[in-house]
Amino acid sequence: MTDIDDSLDARISSECPVGVQAILRAAWRHDVDALKPLLDAPGKASCRDPVTGETPLHAAIRSLGPVDEEESAEVQAEKEAKATRMVERLLFGGAIWNDVDTNNETPGCVAWRLNQKELYDQMVRAGARAEMLFAILDGYEELESDGDEEEDDEEMGEAEAEAEAEETANGTNGHEAEAEEEVPEDEPGTDAPVSEETSYLESHLTLADGKLVDSAGNGVMMEWEADIMRRSVDAMLGGPPEDESTKGKRVLNIGFGLGIIDSMIAARQPARHHIIEAHPEVLARIDAASSNPATAGDDHAAEFGAAWESSGPEEGAFKVQRGRWQDMCPKLLAEGELYDAIYFDTFGEDYSELRRFFTDYIPGLLNDDGVFGFFNGLGADRRVCYDVYTRVVEMHLSEAGLDVAWNDVDVPLAQDGLDKAGAGAWEGILRPYWTLDKYRLPVCTFMG
Ligand SMILES: C[S@@+](CC[C@H](N)C(=O)[O-])C[C@H]1O[C@@H](n2cnc3c(N)ncnc32)[C@H](O)[C@@H]1O
Repeated sequence: MTDIDDSLDARISSECPVGVQAILRAAWRHDVDALKPLLDAPGKASCRDPVTGETPLHAAIRSLGPVDEEESAEVQAEKEAKATRMVERLLFGGAIWNDVDTNNETPGCVAWRLNQKELYDQMVRAGARAEMLFAILDGYEELESDGDEEEDDEEMGEAEAEAEAEETANGTNGHEAEAEEEVPEDEPGTDAPVSEETSYLESHLTLADGKLVDSAGNGVMMEWEADIMRRSVDAMLGGPPEDESTKGKRVLNIGFGLGIIDSMIAARQPARHHIIEAHPEVLARIDAASSNPATAGDDHAAEFGAAWESSGPEEGAFKVQRGRWQDMCPKLLAEGELYDAIYFDTFGEDYSELRRFFTDYIPGLLNDDGVFGFFNGLGADRRVCYDVYTRVVEMHLSEAGLDVAWNDVDVPLAQDGLDKAGAGAWEGILRPYWTLDKYRLPVCTFMG
């Protein structure tokens, strides 16, 4: 990481308007009394220095500096208490939790870098609250039939400011199509419209060096994830693979990609194995590779052609369901299919689709003692977003009647060539969608 100058002079520029400077300086000093009269109009708590992108939240956290191990616990606690009070005041005033500054840091990133654990946790809680609120507002908007938008905007007030957070740094599933505009304060949005997904399904895919890449250069699936796939299979079906009890299960996998997880599932000799895949080129690869296995090399696509489908213990037991899960799942439900394990790993869809899947379909498709897993890449290009989305998805899973246990998996970034954008594993990939040294693997079961 490049050295960051956290001094007040470096962060509040001479070009910063006087009114904004006053707010930033009050936040920096943790002077709540001075701040209060300055927040005299909506939006002021999220003002920013036009040169450095410093917001009052950044200032309030940054001014604490790194944790000083020499300092007594009492002094530290006192400073921390003043800072958390200021941060709380700013959040109540509508401050945005995930604005990024010119160092590409959110306030939570600053807290993490300075080892200010309490402040970091405060930002994670704030982020989770904002994202939960956003999810509610999103649903509320969908329900409207003849709303007057202007009127709604006025009414939303503070909530609108929260929702705006969605437009800045936020959590995304790594496996999302994100032909992102390179705007610093506009990190990948979770809210890809349906048309964006449609365009992914229409885009041309290339497969090279163990990377499946869409036409915009986004990594759809990469070999480095094989370890995560293996551990997900172990978590869903129980391990080790030789164990007889892991065989004979009914499994649904959504999203074929490179077929990595399906190959691992097939090795467990399931009684039923259904795969839902929507992209015509992924499906065409399965057809081509399986009809010509001699030239397919180690392409897993070769394992899942017509011969595989007819090798099942009964008609329809092994099947690639060709289409979008949104269209195929209602059909599977109507046919009374029930699975012991369901894995969900799509691409080009935002978080609301994952939520919709586990809320609408898991209750009907998963056996009572079954296990649901998904690729947890939500917000994985930024630690604070990953932590926020862990909380958000946990709350939404709970609303859907699911408990989740998280298994931490080490991701050896340097060893896997994941530590440098544009190089190693990321060569030829537009944007690294994974930057963290730990993967939080979800194992979801019904409550009670
Ligand atoms: C990240 S890859 C899956 C990788 C897979 N887990 C593996 O081990 O190789 C995502 C896959 O989901 C597919 N997909 C995207 N949207 C889908 C949808 N709505 N329904 C079904 N499949 C979809 C993509 O075409 C892609 O093949």
